[in-house]
Amino acid sequence: MDTMRVTKIVGGVCGSLLVLLLVKWGGDIIFVGAEGEDHAEQAYSIAVPDSSAPVAAVVEVPFAEIYASADAALGERVFAKCATCHKVDPGNNAVGPTLFGIVGRAPGSEPGFSNYSDAMLAVTEPWTPEHLNTFLTRPSDAVPGTAMRFSGLPKPEDRANLIAYLATLQ
Ligand code: HEC
Repeated sequence: MDTMRVTKIVGGVCGSLLVLLLVKWGGDIIFVGAEGEDHAEQAYSIAVPDSSAPVAAVVEVPFAEIYASADAALGERVFAKCATCHKVDPGNNAVGPTLFGIVGRAPGSEPGFSNYSDAMLAVTEPWTPEHLNTFLTRPSDAVPGTAMRFSGLPKPEDRANLIAYLATLQ
């Protein structure tokens, strides 16, 4: 192999490497640009949960509307969550007061139940379906200081069905 050939080969290799390097730089610049755009798109897609707000809007259907098509039989199943503390037959108080006749009753008014909290005794609005809906969403928010240790029913349909069931206990 003569020196000239070696020089050509080395030169060729170096030239190729230089081209590769330049391509990589160029690529980096384009790639960074593209990535920047990606981020911009991501900012949009982060907003997408907001644009799925129709789902939240569904949740905000007025309670009366959900209640109008509530299913008491399904509500009886939801009541399993209350049954550890509440009975539903007249006068049968347990950890909590009997829920017989609860819809329409005045809060804190079950005569045989003596463990009402002061907070509950201070509530004056009767237990209409709407008021029960508010209370059962998050008892500790609706009646701060309540003795009812129950975190709440997050699903409006569960509350509506349950209240429809409670309304049958008259
Ligand atoms: C861990 C026990 C417990 C569970 C579970 C529980 N409650 Fe209660 N509940 C109580 C107690 C105790 C009170 C009395 C609260 C007070 O005086 O602050 C009460 C009060 C109530 C009242 C007001 C009664 C009145 O006479 O004014 C309603 C309505 C009620 N509960 C409904 C429910 C429903 C519906 C569920 C199920 C989704 C439920 N509770 C789950 C213990 C419980």
